[in-house]
Amino acid sequence: MLKTHTCGELRAEHAGQEITLAGWVHRWRDQGGLVFFDLRDRWGIAQLVINQETAPDTHKKAKEVRNEWVIQVKGIVRQRPAGMVNTNIATGAIEVEVTDLVVLNQAKTPPFYINKDEENLDEALRMKYRYLDLRRERMQKNLILRHNVIRFIRNYLSDRGFMEIETPVLFKTTPEGARDYLVPSRVHPGKFYALPQSPQQLKQLLMVAGYERYFQIVRCFRDEDQRGDRQPEFTQLDMEMSFVGRHDVMELIEGMMIAIVKNVTDRELVFDPFPRISYQEAMEKYGSDKPDIRYDMAAVDISDIAGRSGFSVFTSNVAAGKPVKVIRVPNLGAESGSQLKKLHQELEELCKGAGAKGLAYMAIPTEENGEVRGPIGKFFPTELKLELFDAVGVQPGDLLLFVSDDRKVVYNVVDTLRRHLAETLNLTDPKQVAFAWVVDFPLFEWNADENRWDPSHHLFTSPYPEDLHMLETEPGKVRGQQYDLVCNGYEVAGGSIRIHDRAIQEIVFRLIGQNVEEARHKFGHMLEAFEYGAPPHGGIAPGIDRLLMLLAGEPNIREVIAFPKTQQASDLMAGAPSDVTQQQLDELHIAIVGEVESK
Ligand code: AMO
Ligand code: AMP
Repeated sequence: MLKTHTCGELRAEHAGQEITLAGWVHRWRDQGGLVFFDLRDRWGIAQLVINQETAPDTHKKAKEVRNEWVIQVKGIVRQRPAGMVNTNIATGAIEVEVTDLVVLNQAKTPPFYINKDEENLDEALRMKYRYLDLRRERMQKNLILRHNVIRFIRNYLSDRGFMEIETPVLFKTTPEGARDYLVPSRVHPGKFYALPQSPQQLKQLLMVAGYERYFQIVRCFRDEDQRGDRQPEFTQLDMEMSFVGRHDVMELIEGMMIAIVKNVTDRELVFDPFPRISYQEAMEKYGSDKPDIRYDMAAVDISDIAGRSGFSVFTSNVAAGKPVKVIRVPNLGAESGSQLKKLHQELEELCKGAGAKGLAYMAIPTEENGEVRGPIGKFFPTELKLELFDAVGVQPGDLLLFVSDDRKVVYNVVDTLRRHLAETLNLTDPKQVAFAWVVDFPLFEWNADENRWDPSHHLFTSPYPEDLHMLETEPGKVRGQQYDLVCNGYEVAGGSIRIHDRAIQEIVFRLIGQNVEEARHKFGHMLEAFEYGAPPHGGIAPGIDRLLMLLAGEPNIREVIAFPKTQQASDLMAGAPSDVTQQQLDELHIAIVGEVESK
């Protein structure tokens, strides 16, 4: 080794020892007779001091050295004088008095600072020089956390009888609702592998194979529109268990998540145990199947009360079966007239963007005999107002926001309003993680464009046994044995108990518009496997990147991935995707047709 110690490990007890360190120059200060370096390696930072009097040659060399040069130094650890101790860094009690210095490599001036967290640093620049970006403390911390979480998961599951088994990346379509990435076959001209959107089928086949408890930290590929919480390739903790019901899977994952938060992170768990919310309740209260429940502001259905008011928008909507919902926002009702007007305008614009026709409001006075402000107050006689206030649990100074429209629009508006208000009112603390289970999803969603049912999770999810009788008659009413784990407004995991009966699987294929021939072609191996003693089984897959994003308090998953892709699914550092040679195309029997525009 070119070093005897790491930069991060030196403490007062090392004082007097002769040591060798190697790393990058993080920062330097030239004070004439003394040159100071902060030397950085993966484990931390140590202060070096080079004294002209005691080491004149080394001092001369040191004066040439610049930030990010790679150096090796030999020296003696000294305790810093009492007043000079730096309590901000772990090695702040010591410094190293350097006797010898070797420059191992020089460095060009980096395109951005490594030694400080610049705000608004251009992300494209960070991506292009990702190897420099990864030197920064923020990224180092995130990748170390990622490693620790994954290691913890591997141990946790191994200790509980799970086996990690690798599954192929070159495979056949494994639909999870996105487009497949295809890989052409040279050996089989005109044929393609699909990169797995998840190892869903393979893990189920491992259950048929009798492994009972499987997991894998695995890369999944989905060609879909990119967002802050989506990447074209991402990592799942994929797992599956045999002879279990949904509570078994949920309890195992819940126990593991709590243990991760407590043992590996500095986050604060808001709920232990995790609340379980039905899909229906989540939609009605939060307008979302992945609600952020760090704050309340749940919508209250007041259709009954609003239907008896004199406000024609509400009465006609209620008569047509459309709901009226209220969100109660503390304190904002106390704003002055002009402020209130401005605030309402802003919120109304936001809601219109989310599909609403308007946003009615009532500002509740702070004083006992004050007037309720807002144009719809007059349509609610005193008695009805009191009934309304009772229903929403009104407090002095509240602002009540009213939404009424088609149910789907109301959901969207409620979700948009809650997220917006939480952000602008600073109601979320990124230190907090609020996990919750969402359960009792409908098995299917009606796809009006294609005139067929779509699976709301995936096509292997088992219906509730008690809903089976409706499978062929009223598929929309059948609930799936699906469970999603949500956290701070994101879906971090999705899973289900699976169908293990060929007959039921065939009905599901038919309902989602796969004729038997088509299904046999795509999933014949699954149907066949179900005939060789498939055990009851179920599983789940937490998205590692999303989980890490939340545990690190980062705003998007790119911050917890070493080499992420951009919103356009490209790698700016290496320049992928890229052109290939004509020879490669010929070997693959591929011709590029039509105009191709590079992005
Ligand atoms: P699902 O499709 O819900 O379920 O995916 C599981 C979890 O993977 C994460 N995830 C993503 N993360 C980053 N980028 C993406 N593009 C992306 N897509 C999904 C999410 C999500 O909750 N086979 C089933 C699991 C099962 O039933 O066991 C599956 O893949 O955190
Ligand atoms: P108007 O009587 O049309 O001026 O509307 C009075 C208030 O009701 C305004 O603040 C509108 O934004 C609001 N409003 C109109 N339509 C709706 C609706 N569908 N849901 C909620 N508020 C509405």
